[in-house]
Amino acid sequence: MGKCTSCGAWNSFEEEVIESSVKTSSQYVPSSSARPIVLSEIKTEKLDRIPTRIHELDQVVGGGIVPGSVILLGGEPGIGKSTLLLQVAVNLNKKVLYVSGEESPQQIFLRAQRLNVPSNNCYIYSETNIAAIIQEIKNSTPDLVIVDSVQTLKHPDIDASPGSVSQIRETSNLLIELAKQTHTPMILIGHINKEGSIAGPKILEHMVDVVLQFEGDMQNVYRILRSNKNRFGSTAEIGIFEMEQSGLREVANPSEIMLSGNPEKLSGVAVASVMEGIRPLMIEVQALVSTAAYGTPQRTVNGFDGKRLNMLLAVIEKRLGVKIYTKDVFVNVAGGIRVQDTAIDLAVVAAILSSLFDFYIPNNFCFAGEVGLTGEIRSVSQIEKRIKESSKLGIKKMFVPSVETTHKSQCEVVSCSRIDSTFREIFKKQSE
Ligand code: TYD
Ligand code: MG
Repeated sequence: MGKCTSCGAWNSFEEEVIESSVKTSSQYVPSSSARPIVLSEIKTEKLDRIPTRIHELDQVVGGGIVPGSVILLGGEPGIGKSTLLLQVAVNLNKKVLYVSGEESPQQIFLRAQRLNVPSNNCYIYSETNIAAIIQEIKNSTPDLVIVDSVQTLKHPDIDASPGSVSQIRETSNLLIELAKQTHTPMILIGHINKEGSIAGPKILEHMVDVVLQFEGDMQNVYRILRSNKNRFGSTAEIGIFEMEQSGLREVANPSEIMLSGNPEKLSGVAVASVMEGIRPLMIEVQALVSTAAYGTPQRTVNGFDGKRLNMLLAVIEKRLGVKIYTKDVFVNVAGGIRVQDTAIDLAVVAAILSSLFDFYIPNNFCFAGEVGLTGEIRSVSQIEKRIKESSKLGIKKMFVPSVETTHKSQCEVVSCSRIDSTFREIFKKQSE
């Protein structure tokens, strides 16, 4: 501009270049260790993990948070991510910077009141500008940084709106670099919506060290924490929590809670032993088989694969000679847990037959076995672990595929090879 628009003077403008503080902070300074080293000569530094004091979380991340590591916690809105991390922040005996772009400090204070843990080490910082956040981390040198959430972060030099792919990628990149430089561990929250239509945090998964997923049925109180990726530990561990009035409670013995014991001796209930990661879990499978009122029978299933249910129904129909095609079939896995383990098959078949013929399966029977198309019962993994868990919970009879088990326990282990012979056996005992 040549002429000033307010005073009318000519050539009175001077150029001033505004340096972006973010750009300079992101410049990577190579350290001396960034040279090729012979693998066998690399000095092993002991990883001084920071325990979070939330045992279930520690277990999932591999025994505590590794300094300088970046953890991405994903999950649907409302599942409890902010609650979990606020609990981490207030329980940790270290300085925590909780950056919140989602909620005001007052809102977080109210939540902290519900959790009922006073903390003088947790600093709430309501900010979304990444330059300010980085400055604050450098100034206050916290022991842990929590960012809620990556979708709210804003890079001042990028025009795109917060939550867009470019904003998420650039802002997270800066945080990850800072974590590595300062050895400050960070936990980033990322929302994932049901349809997965917003790519959002997905693009971050290869950049961070650990990817945790918090999941569960919104109508139910149980939440499962899984790790999808972990550079410092196994991804097989899971953590189970229960959402209560005063925050998330760790569930150390999930099997005990998932089993109702079926005190009224109702038909249509069978106990399954399934593996969730490396953890054996006892859950109740419920089935209801009733005569279809209208043309096409309904098949509704909760917590289990619907296509697999159709397959099991076809196997029952063909191999046991039972007419089931005119029936409505509803199957529900109690506790709101989604089971991937195919060892649940045998319990599903048991529950369906139990409901169909209206006979009660004793509550101290337990099933573990995959059912094949010819009606054979196929082997499942970790049978010893499953038997051990069952006998711990007072199971008296466990139906498993034909396997050699060396495990000595109070519970009687019954080897099953086919569904027809197995259920004839159970059925016969009932009618005697
Ligand atoms: P929140 O942590 O806000 O979920 P996210 O950050 O994943 O979006 O928690 C969501 C729900 O948890 C909320 O709807 C209410 C419930 N809740 C409780 O039941 N008890 C509690 O003590 C708290 C803090 C939340
Ligand atoms: Mg939240």
